[in-house]
Amino acid sequence: MTGLFWQRQIQNGLSVNFSPMEAITIAKQFLEAGEVVAIPTETVYGLAGNAFDTKAVSKIFQVKNRPVFDPLIVHSDSILKIKEFVKEIPEKAQLLADYFWPGALTLLLPKKNLIPDLVTAGLDRVAVRIPYHPLSLNLLQQLDFPLAAPSANPFGYISPTTAQHVRQQLGDKIPYILDGGACSIGIESTIIGFEREEIIVYRLGGISIEAIEQIVGKVKTILHSSSNPQSAGMLESHYAPKKKMMLVNFDHFNLEEFLIQENLAKKDIGILRFQQVYPLVEEANQIILSPTGDFAEAAQNLFAGMRTLDSQPIQIILAELLPEKDLGRAINDRLRRASR
Ligand code: TXA
Ligand code: MG
Repeated sequence: MTGLFWQRQIQNGLSVNFSPMEAITIAKQFLEAGEVVAIPTETVYGLAGNAFDTKAVSKIFQVKNRPVFDPLIVHSDSILKIKEFVKEIPEKAQLLADYFWPGALTLLLPKKNLIPDLVTAGLDRVAVRIPYHPLSLNLLQQLDFPLAAPSANPFGYISPTTAQHVRQQLGDKIPYILDGGACSIGIESTIIGFEREEIIVYRLGGISIEAIEQIVGKVKTILHSSSNPQSAGMLESHYAPKKKMMLVNFDHFNLEEFLIQENLAKKDIGILRFQQVYPLVEEANQIILSPTGDFAEAAQNLFAGMRTLDSQPIQIILAELLPEKDLGRAINDRLRRASR
């Protein structure tokens, strides 16, 4: 166990400057003791615990306030280790893994009993990925168990893309946050399953459909489900700020009319746009995702931008959709869910 002195320093949020190796050791010790720890990945921060340990996994659900019907992704650092807890890796899954791992792709694979049912919400398949972040990869290499980790946010809220985001919402509920800086992709992993000959995308994410189809050909997309979602990214309202968010096409938007209709003032309006500032609202209340129109940059800025607007003294966030291609699709998926 980590010394009590350090635990207190960490819990009190004092800025102790650990070297990356020291920080990894602290995370490792907490995880080995059955605790949950926030870890950085290239997509979003995860709330991690020993995936083989039902007690640690149930702590994850508690801390997140997550319903137990919503299964978790299991993170590992090698395909060899993954083979210890999945029954088989279909050929096309192997192709995708070879090409995209470590990376923002999660594969649904038939699980062995080593993975507790709590992790998969009783489903036969376990969601698996190798994340691309040096600190977490190093941590995983040192552990003799994989890490179950959902995004490190309270259930339903926007996923965290910095350690600071995690600290703000879960800081008093977990013993340690492994700070790996801002997430380079900024949007959750793409989730894929294999059914007979079909490849099915259940959640749009950091690896685009176009990139996946280049490796394995045509895929099918099933994003919406009713009462029993296979994937919570499938829950209708998710990834949402506390403030009301509404999708708007700014080319055909009459602000004056809207303000009268909603009984709002200009200062009540926040704006989330792809490239351009909206000239009729104060710039301080606007987030521009990528002035140059770069999808990757827009994804990186999306969740932090939603958080910034959520914390401003405005009443409503007006957001626009991006072109429906590449990462634009995943960004639009999050914007649609956030505005329900
Ligand atoms: O990028 C990511 O995927 C991040 C980082 C931390 O890896 N994790 C993440 O986890 O977004 P979470 O729990 O917020 O979303 C995981 C999604 C959920 O929608 C869950 O329903 C789905 O994965 N999922 C997990 N296991 C599943 C399974 N066995 N079958 C179907 N869907 C599953
Ligand atoms: Mg999540």
